[in-house]
Amino acid sequence: MNKNLNDCIKSRHSAREFSEKEIPENVLHEILEMARFAPSSKNTQPWKLSLVEGARLEALKKELCLQFDNNASCRPDFTQGLQEIYRPRAIALGKSILTYKGIAREDKEGRRLHDRANFDFFGANAILILSVLPEPNETTLMDLGIFAGYLMLAIENAGLSCCPQVSVANYADSFRKILPELSEEKIAMVFPFGYALENSHLNAFESTREPYENWFRKIS
Ligand SMILES: Cc1cc2nc3c(=O)[nH]c(=O)nc-3n(C[C@H](O)[C@H](O)[C@H](O)COP(=O)(O)O)c2cc1C
Repeated sequence: MNKNLNDCIKSRHSAREFSEKEIPENVLHEILEMARFAPSSKNTQPWKLSLVEGARLEALKKELCLQFDNNASCRPDFTQGLQEIYRPRAIALGKSILTYKGIAREDKEGRRLHDRANFDFFGANAILILSVLPEPNETTLMDLGIFAGYLMLAIENAGLSCCPQVSVANYADSFRKILPELSEEKIAMVFPFGYALENSHLNAFESTREPYENWFRKIS
């Protein structure tokens, strides 16, 4: 399926329930071929992307859920602290998704399971891990962010869906433990992806956006 850019941008949103349908090799190729065109500072193209499926993915889910269940201390490779000024938006998102799922504020177990679903990659059969060589500078991280945007639109364009995640990167060492291929790399983001489960109530959740007047200014 090929959409136009306008459709891709407007229709893309995070999916958190996936179907069992496998991703055909040619579709994966199409996605990677599009993401490849992302621009980067000095054309360094510093991203690494790993597709993980099957037994290795199951082992990773098990390890991450164990860390979560044990309340293990978070050791992300990149800081995740919220800037105070943006905290209200993050709180509003959390409240709206929990309300949408019918999980009450006082339902501690419901909230725990909601968070835990991240570490099972929302049941997806495939994930993409975005990583980078050690000691990236901040511009390199911008390159990764731009690449992530291209990747998400390429996934949407191919008729698939994903959920960008940093929560799981809190246990970066678990990735390196289960996937020695990444032992020399830093974990930036993960994308559970595949065909979104049709008629899923959860997948119909939509985050709001600020009007652009809240972040755009004209200077002359
Ligand atoms: C860098 C980044 C990290 C994110 N981490 C998570 C995550 O750990 N878990 C999750 O459920 N969603 C995560 N999200 C999804 C955001 O909540 C979502 O993109 C935002 O609410 C906008 O909604 P939309 O993607 O449906 O348009 C992340 C998004 C980005 C861009």
